[in-house]
Amino acid sequence: MKITVIGSGYVGLVTGACLAELGNSVFCLDVDARKIDILNNGGVPIYEPGLKEIIERNRAAGRLTFSTDVAASVAHGDIQFIAVGTPPDEDGSADLQYVVAAARNIGRHMTAFKVVVDKSTVPVGTGEKVRAAIAEELAARGADVGVTVVSNPEFLKEGAAVDDFMRPDRIVIGADTDAAGQQARDKMRELYAPLNRNHERILYMDVRSAEFTKYAANAMLATRISFMNELANLADKLDVDIENVRKGIGSDPRIGFSFLYAGTGYGGSCFPKDVQALVRSAGEFGQHLEILHAVESVNNQQKQILLGKITARLGEDLSGKTFAMWGLAFKPNTDDMRAAPSRVMVKELLKRGAKVVAFDPVSMEEARHAFELDLAELPAEQRRLSYSDAPMSAVDGADALIIMTEWKAFKSPDFGALKAALSQPLIFDGRNLYEPATMRKEGVEYHAIGRAGKHAG
Ligand SMILES: NC(=O)c1ccc[n+]([C@@H]2O[C@H](COP(=O)([O-])OP(=O)(O)OC[C@H]3O[C@@H](n4cnc5c(N)ncnc54)[C@H](O)[C@@H]3O)[C@@H](O)[C@H]2O)c1
Repeated sequence: MKITVIGSGYVGLVTGACLAELGNSVFCLDVDARKIDILNNGGVPIYEPGLKEIIERNRAAGRLTFSTDVAASVAHGDIQFIAVGTPPDEDGSADLQYVVAAARNIGRHMTAFKVVVDKSTVPVGTGEKVRAAIAEELAARGADVGVTVVSNPEFLKEGAAVDDFMRPDRIVIGADTDAAGQQARDKMRELYAPLNRNHERILYMDVRSAEFTKYAANAMLATRISFMNELANLADKLDVDIENVRKGIGSDPRIGFSFLYAGTGYGGSCFPKDVQALVRSAGEFGQHLEILHAVESVNNQQKQILLGKITARLGEDLSGKTFAMWGLAFKPNTDDMRAAPSRVMVKELLKRGAKVVAFDPVSMEEARHAFELDLAELPAEQRRLSYSDAPMSAVDGADALIIMTEWKAFKSPDFGALKAALSQPLIFDGRNLYEPATMRKEGVEYHAIGRAGKHAG
């Protein structure tokens, strides 16, 4: 099938590459010429395990094209995926300008029937806005061409995106029930057939329900995280180990183990903005979403919890102190720094006069861009952030180690070497990577999230 993917970011690039891998002819469009240049020169602008190999293979086979040429992109695909960003507006609602711009481009150039598929995460009613934008452009040039709009939200996780795309739990397709909508359902079914062999994964529904399903999924996951974070903070006071509690409740099949880890609060490009957008959408209809307000507020507070443990131990004034930081990306296996909790932590430490030496296995380049912007708000003498190219050299001579991302590489360090490198054996772990009992045996003073109990571990 001939497919166009509009937007070559985390979602668009994975979608385009994976659909090419399934044998389709895919045209990936982006307005960012720098990204397209990188892709056309054999590079990949983001880090996602397995993606580079798929892109290389399918470009070489002639099934995958990258371009900034809008007219050519509209001409190419019978199915046009919109996978552009939907960042938060100033008031937290989803900013739809990129989605609408993509829709207008389709309307401006299309000369034959198109199935337009919204893969971006968009508020309920966006399908109608996309249809209206295309209709306006068609009317402006007096063109009478058919179009139907489908919602096909994406549930992939960064860090496991290729795998998630190739092995989806479910494929949600929101489409109309008229003839054009039925044609779209058939085309989508054909497109996803290779991923739908083992058992039926496609869930058909109306466009609005599909749009809502994506927000509901992310809101539920964010709720689980905030719930566990709140309980972890109580566990610290009650001499309870939250890890025991996690296992104790996760083993209940009605609850399950996923998304029950206490930590430094959720980050990334999706949960914070999607929870906010849903809250704002509800507000427009006069409804106050009590639970999600609390989820957001607990998450904002959680980003300060580990910092509170640091200042309780070392004092509010951290001048003269050096902290090694392991992990900067908002989660492992990605280079994504959007809303990463490390960004809050670094800024707070620097503001208190500390020095930070940071290491991350893959996000160093993204981190440099992110911190360049963040640190611009601080006076020059406070911008004492440097980077190290290995975890142990970051720790060398530091007063404490802070762990912000649960990369596998951090899970079993040589504690002897770590103790020798640190000026004192002190770890603040925002990801609960180690057992408190092991740390006691190793002679390391260990502060984690919800594990302060005397009996912890
Ligand atoms: N990142 C995730 O894990 C994830 C998962 C599921 C859903 N989503 C949703 O998918 C959407 C995209 O997210 P992302 O993380 O891939 O964003 P991203 O910022 O990585 O990529 C978006 C891309 O769209 C491009 N773009 C913007 N306007 C364009 C236009 N008019 N024409 C062509 N290209 C255009 C941008 O230059 C950028 O490269 C968002 O709505 C997001 O909420 C993201």
